[in-house]
Amino acid sequence: MKKILVINGPNLNMLGLREPALYGAKDFKALQQFIISAAEELSLNIELFQSNHEGAIVDKIQAAYGVFDGILINPAAYTHTSVAILDALKAVALPTVEVHLTDISTREEFRRFSFVSLYAQKTVCGKGFDGYKEGLEFLASL
Ligand code: DQA
Repeated sequence: MKKILVINGPNLNMLGLREPALYGAKDFKALQQFIISAAEELSLNIELFQSNHEGAIVDKIQAAYGVFDGILINPAAYTHTSVAILDALKAVALPTVEVHLTDISTREEFRRFSFVSLYAQKTVCGKGFDGYKEGLEFLASL
């Protein structure tokens, strides 16, 4: 069974409360449940990790080397700022899918660039929770 690390970045733990007009009314627990169900359907073994700290995310990516077969990551705000997360993904060189709940290409100018997209094999944007399932499907198909 393939092992996939699912990483959610800063403020995603505030789903439900956080700008519901953009991110929806469902909370982070509901997202985690959704990901667990999708993984079960696809016969994937997953670990869920959420952090508000860039270094903690870098540490988790580094620790994935030799343990996981792929990474699904919503880097949240670090998408647009973190060379460190990009470098960590390149270092471990695992198949990686980037996912965003919203369509970052149609929002503010500063959200249009993604460092993580420079490495990720696939990016899914603007599909809400379903985007996580699409990302897992891609990783399962490799
Ligand atoms: C996000 C988009 C980012 O620009 C933002 O900072 C987030 C969430 C998304 O899932 O749509 O925190 O990654």
